[in-house]
Amino acid sequence: MNIGILSYKFVNLNHNTLWKWKQLYHNWMKSAELQILTASEPLSLEEEYAMQKSWRNDEDKCTFLILSKETFDTTNDELKSLIGDTNLFLQYEDDQNEKVAECEIMIAEKEYRRKKLGWESMLLMLKYGQCILNLNKFVAKINENNENSIYMFKKMNFNEISRSEIFHEVTLERKVDETWTTWLDSQVDLQIESYK
Ligand SMILES: CC(C)(COP(=O)(O)OP(=O)(O)OC[C@H]1O[C@@H](n2cnc3c(N)ncnc32)[C@H](O)[C@@H]1OP(=O)(O)O)[C@@H](O)C(=O)NCCC(=O)NCCS
Repeated sequence: MNIGILSYKFVNLNHNTLWKWKQLYHNWMKSAELQILTASEPLSLEEEYAMQKSWRNDEDKCTFLILSKETFDTTNDELKSLIGDTNLFLQYEDDQNEKVAECEIMIAEKEYRRKKLGWESMLLMLKYGQCILNLNKFVAKINENNENSIYMFKKMNFNEISRSEIFHEVTLERKVDETWTTWLDSQVDLQIESYK
């Protein structure tokens, strides 16, 4: 599905650009800092390509790339504007009442951090999950040392439900109820457009 969510420019990229993005993504994930913050294992280029193919094709994964609108408006270059990604991993069967997704966010390009891009991108993804995918619960699993991200999700009204000493991981969750949906709507305005 080729759609974009507008704001600080979210888009799903076409195949031509995706090929170049794969290499950029691989370079991002060589960073030891990002591996720790996102609890990711270092992967070979081939393993990463296979993973990205599954993100694009698997029904249980929803990925949007994050582009800086400011950079895109000045360069008209998608690759130069790519700064990160956000994912939902859907964790439910069709016969279950509760539709849960694990959510992830990464602003990989350091100079773009702390500009509210992570905040807005994640909230737009949550809004997409709530109103397009009809999800009723979100879960975030975060490295216990990643205080910035834990703080961000708590500010998004996620509640800490457990800490794993084995995985050094904090799990937070947010049930989609009326109060939270009203809050979400006060923060972001989801605008979807088709993308060529
Ligand atoms: C965590 C991350 C997504 C935050 O995105 P960002 O664009 O840098 O941060 P934002 O400007 O949107 O800040 C949103 C909130 O996050 C928290 N936060 C983010 N960076 C912070 C920092 N350096 N110090 C303190 N709080 C921070 C704050 O609560 C902030 O809200 P506030 O500014 O009103 O206090 C981003 O820094 C990132 O991708 N880091 C590397 C990868 C990662 O950690 N991913 C999360 C794993 S799930």
